[in-house]
Amino acid sequence: MKRSKKDVFAGILLFGAAFLLSACAVTGQKRETGKAPAQEAGTEAAGKETGPKIGVSIYRYDDTFMKLYRSELKQYLEETYHAQVVLRNADGNQETQNQQVDRLIADGCKGLLVNPVEVSAAGRLADAANKAGIPLIFINREPKQTEQLRWKKEHMAVSSVGTDSRQAGSYQGEIILETPKKGDLNGDGVVSCGMLKGEEGNEASEYRSEYAIKALKKGGMKAEELYSGSGDWSRESGKKLAREAFSRYGNKIEVMFCSNDAMANGALEAAKEAGLVPGKDIYLVGVDALQDTVESIKSGEIAGTVLNDHGGQARLAADTLIKMINGEEAETRYLVDDIKITTVSTFKTRKGDD
Ligand code: BGC
Repeated sequence: MKRSKKDVFAGILLFGAAFLLSACAVTGQKRETGKAPAQEAGTEAAGKETGPKIGVSIYRYDDTFMKLYRSELKQYLEETYHAQVVLRNADGNQETQNQQVDRLIADGCKGLLVNPVEVSAAGRLADAANKAGIPLIFINREPKQTEQLRWKKEHMAVSSVGTDSRQAGSYQGEIILETPKKGDLNGDGVVSCGMLKGEEGNEASEYRSEYAIKALKKGGMKAEELYSGSGDWSRESGKKLAREAFSRYGNKIEVMFCSNDAMANGALEAAKEAGLVPGKDIYLVGVDALQDTVESIKSGEIAGTVLNDHGGQARLAADTLIKMINGEEAETRYLVDDIKITTVSTFKTRKGDD
């Protein structure tokens, strides 16, 4: 196979991202040696007393991606603004989160960052902050457009920071289009796909799946959805769903679009268990750019992922909240760009495709 400029570029991106990830790890270690390790308990209030008190409620602490996100948020707010960060785990329960937000307000937080359990609760949470006269930013899960328009109309100090899930989905599809057979491994003219989604009805997983297929079609391929299942974004749920998909369809599934990397990592285990050779018999693709997924891309087992920049999002949310606390106006919606990540070595190592 002749390597296109695009592939080489993608390869560079991977190594760039890997460098970025390892650089982050190094920076993280360096930062931690200078002071006491950051506290991570569900009820802690940590940091120096000099900056504003910021309340943060995360939908679930055991979500792999949100673990990275919240530790960046805490570290950045403490180091950059000497903020007192009060972190709370909503544990997947909206009622718990509602109470946490009320409590954070009552405890004198000057601003709130909320990763909603259910976006349908955004109105209630926004109203609570607005009534107390403090700004609130929704992170990672984007409230509906009608709700965002209301913040604007009612001049509420409420905003959201996230990514465009359609972009991530399109990149997933494009990653497959960059493979030698554009995903049609058996050459029957149709790309047979499995969709491993995050939580049912979640905006990110629905759009990622929809736009992955749309991108394949836009790239001139016929595509069919053989299997579709929803999990909870975890590795275990990805593995469970993939097992089910393989037991029903075996090697008929050529591409498995996974809503995030944790699920792709689980699907990778299930594929091997089912006797498939990932990267040869099936293409797996995720979103997030978790370190172990990037390793599997380098070894050719996972076709690619989309960098969901938790660091960039955390810093943007923190900076925007501080500006709002200082009385500046903010947009109702901020988006951080995703980056497509594949590697030429994924395709170089496979024989017979050239
Ligand atoms: C990430 C997932 C994460 C989810 C939580 C998504 O943007 O890609 O890994 O589980 O957010 O809402």
